Amino acid sequence: MAVSRRTVILSAGGLALVGAGGWWRVSRMPERATAPWDLSGPTPEDVRLDAFRHAVLAPSPHNLQPWRIRLDGDDAATLFCDLDRRLPEADPFDRQTTIGFGCFLELARMAAAARGVAIEITPFPEGAPQGNRDGRLDSRPIARLRFTPREGIPPDPLFAQVAARRSNKAAYDLARPVDRRELRRLTANGEFWRIRATTTPRYVEQIRAIMLDALDTELATQRVQAETARAMRIGAREADASPDGIALLGPAAEAASAVGLLSRAALADPGSTMARAGARQLRERHAATPAFVWLVTDRNDRESQLQAGRAYLRLNLAATSLGIAVHPVSQALEEYSEMADLHARLHALLVPGGGHVQMLARAGYGPEAPPTPRHPLEAKLA
Ligand SMILES: Cc1cc2nc3c(=O)[nH]c(=O)nc-3n(C[C@H](O)[C@H](O)[C@H](O)COP(=O)(O)O)c2cc1C
Repeated sequence: MAVSRRTVILSAGGLALVGAGGWWRVSRMPERATAPWDLSGPTPEDVRLDAFRHAVLAPSPHNLQPWRIRLDGDDAATLFCDLDRRLPEADPFDRQTTIGFGCFLELARMAAAARGVAIEITPFPEGAPQGNRDGRLDSRPIARLRFTPREGIPPDPLFAQVAARRSNKAAYDLARPVDRRELRRLTANGEFWRIRATTTPRYVEQIRAIMLDALDTELATQRVQAETARAMRIGAREADASPDGIALLGPAAEAASAVGLLSRAALADPGSTMARAGARQLRERHAATPAFVWLVTDRNDRESQLQAGRAYLRLNLAATSLGIAVHPVSQALEEYSEMADLHARLHALLVPGGGHVQMLARAGYGPEAPPTPRHPLEAKLA
């Protein structure tokens, strides 16, 4: 079957083939890549391995999973950043990467707690370059963890949601507005952060306009787009071979790749038919947003970024338990020069009194999202 350029529409969230006689089966879904989501196997005796097999399910920017774990003695571990798994163009100060580590730590903490073990976490035990435009992460540890059995750790009701948590990148149902009271259950204040949310149409519209402009800016900025394209895994075979990055799956992706239409090179070129079709579909999906949530910290130091990640992970799990889909949309929060104006506009809108927006996410009701690829824990142990 000939595949015309017009028939293939793609996005970072998936591919759909329309026209050209409809769908056909030329693909399978990745199996090895999603195996880590199956937690039904035997529970590792070592609580650290149990904690980390949950932690590797954490969300991370472009799903790069930058964790490197060293087990120390029999009750401790040190967490490092794999410095090659960062996004120097989109995330020049490693702010988002650090947030991903916060998500990882919170999952580890919850999983250990479920076994009556507390983790004492020492963030950046050897110090860290700070995130305020004067440094990137380096080879020093992100955190040191000590595992100690402790009686009376209360069960965490969110722990049950770990395997069901997703970043749901689909279009949300605009005919089904998010219940204001439900959404408010996601808002909270912590020592380092506060979470806010809105369903107010005028406010949603203002945020949405900035989000879409930021998406356009990102897609048009060649070096950032090229970085994203490098993180793409096209088809199930690639996803199984490199279970990280953004997987483009399904029959249309497989078919377009087989006939040479879909490639990382095509996606890296903002002017290509593929990249333009993808951009159009991404835009449509992003536009279908009835609500937003965002997470703010007063400071933008590394510890605040880690705490923001822990709070975001809990927000993601809480939304899962309420049946509310969330999807981080980070473009307008990114600190590269082409984004500076939109970054300032978003901050003026969301935090007029000051503060750093660490996460902005779409919220709504959407179709079920599949699990994304993960490296197995063994691949992350130093
Ligand atoms: C700090 C951070 C920023 C993110 N920003 C975006 C984003 O701008 N756009 C997006 O589609 N996903 C974003 N994500 C979601 C990741 O792509 C997602 O976590 C990853 O693909 C794994 O999928 P999962 O969360 O469903 O397990 C972000 C995640 C984190 C932790």
